[in-house]
Amino acid sequence: MTGSLAFPSPSRPASSSPSPRFDAIVIGAGAAGLLCAAIAGQRGRRVLLLDHWPKVAEKIRISGGGRCNFTNLHTQPENFLSDNPHFCKSALSRFKPQDIIALLRKHRIAFHEKHKGQLFCDDSAEQLITALLDECAAGQVTHWQPCAVEAVEATHPGFRVRTAKGWVSAQALVVATGGLSIPQIGASPFGYRLAEQFGLPIVPPRPALVPLAFDPAQWAPFADLSGVSLEVDIETDHAHRVVRFREDLLFTHRGLSGPAILQASSYWQPGQALRIDLMPGLSEMAWIQSKHGNRRTLVGELGQHLPQRLAHALCAQTGEADRRMADFSDKALRALLQHWHAWPVRPSGTLGWRKAEVTAGGVDTRALSSTSMMALNVPGLHFIGEVVDVTGWLGGYNFQWAWSSAAACAQAL
Ligand code: FDA
Repeated sequence: MTGSLAFPSPSRPASSSPSPRFDAIVIGAGAAGLLCAAIAGQRGRRVLLLDHWPKVAEKIRISGGGRCNFTNLHTQPENFLSDNPHFCKSALSRFKPQDIIALLRKHRIAFHEKHKGQLFCDDSAEQLITALLDECAAGQVTHWQPCAVEAVEATHPGFRVRTAKGWVSAQALVVATGGLSIPQIGASPFGYRLAEQFGLPIVPPRPALVPLAFDPAQWAPFADLSGVSLEVDIETDHAHRVVRFREDLLFTHRGLSGPAILQASSYWQPGQALRIDLMPGLSEMAWIQSKHGNRRTLVGELGQHLPQRLAHALCAQTGEADRRMADFSDKALRALLQHWHAWPVRPSGTLGWRKAEVTAGGVDTRALSSTSMMALNVPGLHFIGEVVDVTGWLGGYNFQWAWSSAAACAQAL
């Protein structure tokens, strides 16, 4: 056993039972698994928490630049993607941002709102991990980490789990093994394989909140803009509606990144184009009126509204960079602005699992109870957190889903 908890022995010693027996085994000691184990333990359940990775909750540790954007004050079901959009409502309504805030306050962890309702720890995400471990200790959770899980069997009722420390069994099994992003810190497809073993459908996992790449030849005119950043409106089509975000866009060597692209990437489908309004604050009327008596060139005028390097790259494409504003017709200026208000870009792909913050898709929620996160056809088998097909926007929503789904499950154990 490792970690900072004083690990109690399983409540029934191995000698009186073929394998140590618990009320619940939680696999995955990330955000969802830690909170679920803590709440269930404090409700008097005998809980075993297992994780194969040497360090606890690596994603909490690295999130938010080390300060963990642990929730968003404006959390609503509309901030989540899922093939079954109503599924998240019940859990989100029962464990809210205020509930995780209460936990931070209890542990005297200072936090602040950065913007748009995003709450970050003032000092370090490490404090939140310590708080969650302390809550597990208060619930007398047994915590084995690192400890690989080698096999799972249904025992009707309950489950037997073969671990690197031997067989253990429990009435309930909670899968909190997260998604596929950042495999270099312990992500694995374990949760999906287990779901398949028990006949649950999977919505195909795909990288989300991820930078987008472009075909090098197509991107050549913009490749030198690496480092340029600006606020834009970004739009994509999803399920017969338009999804729009106002966020910062960042040019990179290989394509586009920044919050605007990360948000849009979760909705983006291969082959689709995105529309970017590069000057959301500039009205057509103001742009056309600005030509009167204006001796600036097109590139000079555009440079009043956009970073210079971007203005040059965009004007180079028109072939009229050095033409004076006053010499353009209203119609020509209107056409140019309309193009830059809906600048079409067609990504060739994403930067993949190594750069994705989260996984979209996962265990199909139509096979789960929205109140307990339990598989409808497999009594006692629960899935929580990112392994489930519920994916939040950028800005603290994914941790909120981890907390809310964990609490919903723990109340049912
Ligand atoms: P999580 O991935 O946290 O935990 C899963 C656990 O399961 C891990 O400890 C893993 O080791 C374990 N595991 C995996 N396979 C296993 C196996 N086979 N056997 C045993 N254990 C296994 N979100 C947000 O809201 N605000 C933010 O600021 C950020 N920032 C951020 C930055 C970066 C770089 C990334 C990659 C992600 C974020 N996120 C985020 C997303 C957020 O980190 C993520 O949604 C949650 O951590 C999901 O919590 P889970 O507990 O479901 O999975």
